[in-house]
Amino acid sequence: MRAHLWPCLPLLFFASSGWSQSTIPPVIPLGIRSPYFNIWANSANAGHTWPNFWTTSILGWQGLIRVDNQVYQWLGQSGLNPPVANLSNTQLTPTQTIVTMQAGPMDLIVTFLSPIEPSDPVRQSIPFSYVSLDINARDGLSHNVQVYSDISAEWVTPNTDDIVTYSSNPTGSSFYHQIQLQSNQSLTETGNRARDLTAIIAMQTNPNLSHRIANDTECRSQFASDGRVDGTPPSNAVKMGNPFPVFSLAQDLGNITQTSSPVVWAIGGIRNPAIAYTTPSGKGQQRSPYYVTSYSDMSAVVDAVVLDFSDAKSRANTLDTQILGSASNISSTYSNLVSLAARQAMGGTELTIGMGSDGKWNTSDVKMFMKDVGISQRVNPVEQIYAAFPFFLYINPDYAGQLLAPLLELQDSPQYNQPYAARDLGPNYPSGTGDFAFHSQGYEYSGDMLIMALAHARYSGDGTLINQHYTLLKSWADYLVSYNVTPPDAITIDQVKQSNTTNLAIKGIIAIKAMSEISKALQQSSDATRYANLASAFADTWNVVASGGDHLTSSYGSGSTSSSSSSWALMYNLYADRLLQTGVVSDQIYSSQTQWYKTQLASANNQFGLPLDSGTNANLVNAGWTLFTAATATDNAVRDSLIASVWSHALADKNPLSLTYKVNSTDSLPTPGISSPGAGAIFAPLALSLTAKDIKVNPTSAGANGTTSGGTSIVGPVVGAVVGGLVLVVVVALGVLLWRRRKRRQQAAYYDKNYHVEAQPFGTSGNVVSYTDLTLTGLPLRSDPEGITLIQSSAPQNTTVYNPTLNPQDQSHPPGLSSKAREAMMGARFTTNPNPSGSVPSAPSTSAYSSSGPGSSRDAPTEVGSPDTNLSQSDVQGLRMEVENLRRVMQEIQADRVEAPPSYAD
Ligand SMILES: *[C@@H]1O[C@H](CO)[C@@H](O)[C@H](O)[C@H]1NC(C)=O
Ligand SMILES: *[C@@H]1O[C@H](CO)[C@@H](O)[C@H](O)[C@H]1NC(C)=O
Ligand SMILES: *[C@@H]1O[C@H](CO)[C@@H](O)[C@H](O)[C@H]1NC(C)=O
Ligand SMILES: *[C@@H]1O[C@H](CO)[C@@H](O)[C@H](O)[C@H]1NC(C)=O
Ligand SMILES: *[C@@H]1O[C@H](CO)[C@@H](O)[C@H](O)[C@H]1NC(C)=O
Ligand SMILES: *[C@@H]1O[C@H](CO)[C@@H](O)[C@H](O)[C@H]1NC(C)=O
Ligand SMILES: *[C@@H]1O[C@H](CO)[C@@H](O)[C@H](O)[C@H]1NC(C)=O
Ligand SMILES: *[C@@H]1O[C@H](CO)[C@@H](O)[C@H](O)[C@H]1NC(C)=O
Repeated sequence: MRAHLWPCLPLLFFASSGWSQSTIPPVIPLGIRSPYFNIWANSANAGHTWPNFWTTSILGWQGLIRVDNQVYQWLGQSGLNPPVANLSNTQLTPTQTIVTMQAGPMDLIVTFLSPIEPSDPVRQSIPFSYVSLDINARDGLSHNVQVYSDISAEWVTPNTDDIVTYSSNPTGSSFYHQIQLQSNQSLTETGNRARDLTAIIAMQTNPNLSHRIANDTECRSQFASDGRVDGTPPSNAVKMGNPFPVFSLAQDLGNITQTSSPVVWAIGGIRNPAIAYTTPSGKGQQRSPYYVTSYSDMSAVVDAVVLDFSDAKSRANTLDTQILGSASNISSTYSNLVSLAARQAMGGTELTIGMGSDGKWNTSDVKMFMKDVGISQRVNPVEQIYAAFPFFLYINPDYAGQLLAPLLELQDSPQYNQPYAARDLGPNYPSGTGDFAFHSQGYEYSGDMLIMALAHARYSGDGTLINQHYTLLKSWADYLVSYNVTPPDAITIDQVKQSNTTNLAIKGIIAIKAMSEISKALQQSSDATRYANLASAFADTWNVVASGGDHLTSSYGSGSTSSSSSSWALMYNLYADRLLQTGVVSDQIYSSQTQWYKTQLASANNQFGLPLDSGTNANLVNAGWTLFTAATATDNAVRDSLIASVWSHALADKNPLSLTYKVNSTDSLPTPGISSPGAGAIFAPLALSLTAKDIKVNPTSAGANGTTSGGTSIVGPVVGAVVGGLVLVVVVALGVLLWRRRKRRQQAAYYDKNYHVEAQPFGTSGNVVSYTDLTLTGLPLRSDPEGITLIQSSAPQNTTVYNPTLNPQDQSHPPGLSSKAREAMMGARFTTNPNPSGSVPSAPSTSAYSSSGPGSSRDAPTEVGSPDTNLSQSDVQGLRMEVENLRRVMQEIQADRVEAPPSYAD
């Protein structure tokens, strides 16, 4: 009797992967769709434990089955202490966690599905997961079965004293409970938890469905005794905890031997608006999740989700098959890793749409936002996007472009005046209002942006972004060129502080070659030639100065003295050369590095693989950079042991997949990147098999030839010397005006540059956090200061991002910058950290970032010692830059006329 088709697809399909309980990480994904819908189980047996948010907060989520009047638990940890279903097997796929269990006479397959929707932005932007049950009698006999699930108000707040409101809603096709905070606060998070989440539990309408809202004991014991739940709900505002109200949905399946189709609950965490953004003209904008283009109210969204289950499941199976099919060409260990990483990478983001001035959704204004989950609250952290880029290129390069779009757009606006790329869109997710501050990692971030801009264009075939932002990208390339292969004495994102860092230098050189390819794609042939020549000359120099004989040294010349003191590092930035096929790095380098890693793997004998370098980070592993490095290995054995080292840590990790850890211990680091979307780096080897496309540019779209993205101000492509001279005069005059105006605004809100918010890793005590005197500043904080750990920038750094502690003497400047640019940067620095003692300056009530320094500092860097001797060409280029500056100044003045503190009214 049991011989036939059940158990259905997932087991049959994945049986070959050979998963068993012992090879499952101790923390497994259950539902991950956004930074605020990010739920994990602390055990391969979800039936033994309450699920957690990625931090330590418990999210009450109960699953029960009643077979012939006996209740068993398949999810959660009820106080009723029912027998827990026996775990047979747990499997992970990129979109699903499949738990096979036994509850008395019945076999259960519990599937937690978090869709990743590569080709459907509407569905991608609906933060719902499914949990489904397939049931089959082991004895082939008929049994009387009821099933039950509930969620608690812990889904919307970690504080037991908070009051929640709720409603229960029958629609045409489904029934759902929705819960939100009574004192909900739009676009605000506390301790990584959104204060504006609406939690949903839904089921398809059917005659045997029962539902109840009551305290946990009441609901669950009623189900255990009656096999159904009903009763009048309490008044519609209740305290979150003690007792805990739960929102339950049960279904009576009658006498069955097996389910013909799975029983499904849809669980969601909705926020609308999703993001506060500042448009290039400086206006505050509230952006909505993309699905608003298709559904106007909550019940329409819920119905769409509930009715879509079987299609969603088959799309998910198709995607899983595709990903695992490619990954298994590398190894089964690699398949395991991508299965753990995919939901985490996608779930660190939100896909949004903006409203046009006509009050309609603007479908050409689609932007994706990423939270620096597990590390900080930063918005679109460039180094994490760089890490995750292989995943997004693989899943859908359009999403990769939608992550870059807001960064490029804001830095191409008059608000941005740094000569290099910004680190992010601001420190306080979900407030992506821009980060216009001075910082000392311009070389690294400019390199990241150029590499990603080309990668997006190559793999999507869409040249719109590189065309729209051509001048901006070129200014970053020129900034890199100005360093002439000697990257600054600045802390890298891995906290290495040394000059001439080999791995950082090659990122810049690859990025300059990427600029050449961007120019080529836009038929800017003289630029293309110029950057190609520069990159090639720089690479020749780099090959000499970075060589330590049989390997590359960590910084130039640091390994040449004796072989025993020879320094080294994971040269993970070589990956960009492979990804973009820039040809900057020779085959010989790849093979000698691979050989070197092989020797290190064998001799170091570390538990969790290779550290980042032989110096500062000799004890620190980065899982993402390890995978970048693995992807560049010329020897599959080396590739596979690097991959295996990351998996061995995942199997020991007591947190959701962490990005950084120690080589020999599972001790928690302060900010390990728990549940970080940077886990998308694990797709690095897969992204190398993508096919590049011809880059197409819409001929009517403005861009490389001098027009701007907004079409607001058009500067002709040919600038004569006379015009250039006039322009210079005007620039100076306007510069003075601007400088005066900025002077007045310079006391503006710098608090957020001096503070950043630290994520709370697992294992710290819940949401207990320090309180600071931020409320004294009178600033319109977008988040509740309570519940957030604020770290003064002057405190010892324990994140991988900001390093504002550098004193003026430590700040290096690009050798080629004009004195004006230099002054601008110095001015910016001093105003950025006006009060090193840590007290926060009083400030006008604007939440906008101030511009920094007089005039535009994006002057044309001259090329010191550059091999490019075509003087007339760089003269022309200098003039172009000045014209560009003028354009910015004029736009700024235009914007200034209407400038007001950003407002976030609907
Ligand atoms: C789990 O397995 C044990 C041993 O076979 C059995 O005694 C017990 O009843 C099972 N529990 C459930 C919930 O099925
Ligand atoms: C706050 O909750 C109320 C219902 O109590 C809802 O109408 C409103 O839209 C919510 N606001 C936000 C920002 O979620
Ligand atoms: C739970 O609800 C039931 C029924 O409304 C009530 O009798 C019981 O006292 C409640 N339990 C607690 C701990 O409040
Ligand atoms: C509803 O319950 C009845 C009685 O328990 C059962 O016979 C029937 O199959 C159930 N229908 C569904 C759709 O589960
Ligand atoms: C289910 O089976 C039991 C035992 O055979 C029987 O008493 C009961 O009436 C059946 N229920 C339904 C709805 O068929
Ligand atoms: C960086 O490298 C260049 C080229 O090798 C060298 O001239 C320079 O002195 C180095 N800088 C430092 C601080 O070591
Ligand atoms: C820019 O101008 C050049 C020279 O006029 C032309 O060949 C090229 O096609 C133009 N590029 C774009 C993207 O319009
Ligand atoms: C890690 O442990 C191994 C084995 O005990 C040891 O050989 C190695 O030196 C350790 N690595 C570090 C960085 O301490």
